Amino acid sequence: MSKSVTRLYRQFIPENYKLTIEVNSDKITFSGHVVIFGKKVGRPSKRLTFHQKNLKISDTVVTNHAKDKKSIKIDRANNHKSYDEVRLHSPDLIYPGQYEVELSFEGKITDNMTGLYPCYFEHEGKKKQIFATQFESHHAREVFPCIDEPEAKATFDLTLITEPEVEVLSNTEIKSQKTDNKKLITAFEKTPTMSSYLLAFTFGDIHGVSAKTKNNILVKSWASVAQDKKTLKYANDETVVVLDFFEDYFDTPFPLKKLDQIALPDFESGAMENWGLITYREIALLTDPDNRSVPTEQYVSMVIAHEISHQWFGNLVTMKWWDDLWLNESFASLMEHLVLDKLHPDWHQWEQYASVDIISSSNRDLYSDVQPVGTIVKHPDEISTLFDPAIVYAKGGRLLKMMREYIGDSAFREGLKNYFKVHAYKNTVRDDLWTEMSKSSGKDINALMTPWLEQSGMPVVKITKDTSGHTITQSRFLLDKNEDCKLWPIPLLSSEYGIDVLIKKSEHLTSAKIPLINPNGSGHYIVHYADDKNLAEIIKKVKNDPNLSESRINLLNDLMLLARRGDDSIVDALKLVQELDDEPRDAVWSIMGRVLGLSANLGEFNEIIEDGLRKLRYSLAHKNYQKLGWNDKETEDPNTKMLRATMIGLMLGSEDNLAVAKAKEIFKYAKTLEEIPSDRRVLVFSTVVKFADNEKVIDVLVDKYKTSVDPDLQSSISGSLSATRSEKTAKRLIAEALGKDGFVRMQDIFRWYAYFMRNKHTRELAWEWLVTSWDRLEKQFGGGKSMDSFVTYSSGPLQTKEWFKKFNTFFEPKINDFSLTRGINVAKAEIQARIEWRDRELKNLEKFFISLQ
Ligand code: BES
Ligand code: ZN
Repeated sequence: MSKSVTRLYRQFIPENYKLTIEVNSDKITFSGHVVIFGKKVGRPSKRLTFHQKNLKISDTVVTNHAKDKKSIKIDRANNHKSYDEVRLHSPDLIYPGQYEVELSFEGKITDNMTGLYPCYFEHEGKKKQIFATQFESHHAREVFPCIDEPEAKATFDLTLITEPEVEVLSNTEIKSQKTDNKKLITAFEKTPTMSSYLLAFTFGDIHGVSAKTKNNILVKSWASVAQDKKTLKYANDETVVVLDFFEDYFDTPFPLKKLDQIALPDFESGAMENWGLITYREIALLTDPDNRSVPTEQYVSMVIAHEISHQWFGNLVTMKWWDDLWLNESFASLMEHLVLDKLHPDWHQWEQYASVDIISSSNRDLYSDVQPVGTIVKHPDEISTLFDPAIVYAKGGRLLKMMREYIGDSAFREGLKNYFKVHAYKNTVRDDLWTEMSKSSGKDINALMTPWLEQSGMPVVKITKDTSGHTITQSRFLLDKNEDCKLWPIPLLSSEYGIDVLIKKSEHLTSAKIPLINPNGSGHYIVHYADDKNLAEIIKKVKNDPNLSESRINLLNDLMLLARRGDDSIVDALKLVQELDDEPRDAVWSIMGRVLGLSANLGEFNEIIEDGLRKLRYSLAHKNYQKLGWNDKETEDPNTKMLRATMIGLMLGSEDNLAVAKAKEIFKYAKTLEEIPSDRRVLVFSTVVKFADNEKVIDVLVDKYKTSVDPDLQSSISGSLSATRSEKTAKRLIAEALGKDGFVRMQDIFRWYAYFMRNKHTRELAWEWLVTSWDRLEKQFGGGKSMDSFVTYSSGPLQTKEWFKKFNTFFEPKINDFSLTRGINVAKAEIQARIEWRDRELKNLEKFFISLQ
């Protein structure tokens, strides 16, 4: 297993860093100087240790303020590579107390998108760079010596020396700026007391738009000059209202005078919440004001809401150590929906939540090797591989939603407000949050939440009728084992039910009436209404109530999960989908589409099923399709617009001749690809790629991908090209796009791979690419980092014994790489379970589709 590290915070508590960094953009290096002021604590030792990684350190001066204010001669300052440390040695370091430590350092700038790194773009024919930082989780040490642990909160006085004529940004406002000897020297105001992972700076040829919040905070959004300023307007306006909302909801002011945010052309994750300087991938911040869809707006707003909620939860109050990182991320995963529900009532944000977050957490937490939400992290190197997003983000968020629903919003808000008050500028562990929630709600939240956090897996609640009433029983729901020794305190979240929280394994109730349990799916468990009549009543209830759209999503998901284990059949879910052809809400259609998609995956290459599915898509969609047509109207609500795109998608999926012809026609007559409505692009392009595949079409799309700076357009092109059914095209694309000097940016390679794997026509080639490129990718992604997502993207669509064998042959030898072990084990269980599911269902699916003919 992995190495454990000593916490450097236990020997030195930093209070302030005076940090100067000079960047040499030509040589791609940097040098700097830091004065760290802080307290030496702990056991007496002649050593003082700081984090650093790949830095060359020189000119060390240490002054002991506690004793005689004299400089100490350092005998040795050696870098310890495997611990990312620099260790200073001197007998005079033995005294505890206040010290000032001065260090000079130099480093190289590399492309791996951590620490300080360049982002590349082109403007007016010239190649340009923006320099940016990414310090979470432990990359500040790649840029300056520091105590790089979340608990080591300090203030930072940063000065940057850069080339002239660039915009320079950091967490705080600029204090002074001057040009000296053709260099731009920018000093920033002192930051609040904060963790090193939240420090950030960027500079380059960028421009932006700004506005002020109600409380006079200056919000400014930036992008490279290759992007039109107007593409920042939506994000900036949205940020202002989100910031206003949180100041009010948390009843705690945002402590900085300004908030900058920037869209970076190269960015490893989605976005990063650096205090006062949030960084994003371009696709997460930029939108085309003349052509943007509702889902694009929703996505950008969601990312913004997520990162801004971190300004409080994460930045103002921070976890003590990385094993509570889930608390940051789960909280933000809940808050992003909470704020958007309030700011955009016409989005019905909790439906979005149900159709994405509930699906992702519940479809992952099914195998014995999946981690619990709260995992032990020994070294921060483990974070990128130990933290499964479906668990840390989606499941954790769902658990907090369950808690909020159980105690009510006002107790939740009150608890948060007190949590911020008590712990501002400090660090916490999970129990600190439960303590505040217990106080505000009068309930024992620690007892409620701890089993959910510390146990992996999720329960199924089964309800069986008998002559004297009914029995409700909980057991763990697993696809790869029969293990049933865990119990959860399960809030049933129904005011009509006789039990509030099911604590025991099983309870008998005398009532014959069984209401809808877990109506919004906030509880992380499956409800199995084992009695057919009871299930029929529940279906009838949720089907006919316009307010129960989240229940419809959750119920369909529960039925699918039960089918996956063999408690019922996918045909039951398909029958419910058939009954829902009048469904008004697009988010419900999204899970209906998922039922069809999973059926298609099980029935791949089976003509009866594939043909049956085409017909079913047609019969579900054609009425709505006729009614809605292809064109959005300005005045329509977001749901109608999204529903239209969904219906077009289903009609194209049914391969309806007229719909396919219409898509081809749109492509043919479009003067530019940009003018095609943004949410229609992937539908139109992929139809052309599938049904009119010729080199010219592929050339047009590839060229546009290479030359466009619109990330939304690029993403629809990648989604479409990867839908090809031609082996020749697939070969060409995989070589040109994903090859060694391929045209796809490193940050986007994963997405392309996932798409090619999902497509049954390109799967073999994509797999071959992964196998032959693995070593190169591993080097490129810096040894293990992010490599585990290739495991998940690989196993996702696999459902046959042949594929299981291939998967094993390649991944089994890598099982001892600790960053891959868990991922590989879960993936194997997942493929195995899908093979069994397919074996059970092929006959049922055939029978069902024959009966429809
Ligand atoms: N703080 C994270 C990003 C992060 C986490 C970086 C751990 C390094 C280590 C950020 O708030 C985040 O969660 N970003 C998401 C996007 C978000 C909208 C779900 C991401 O990058 O995927
Ligand atoms: Zn986050």
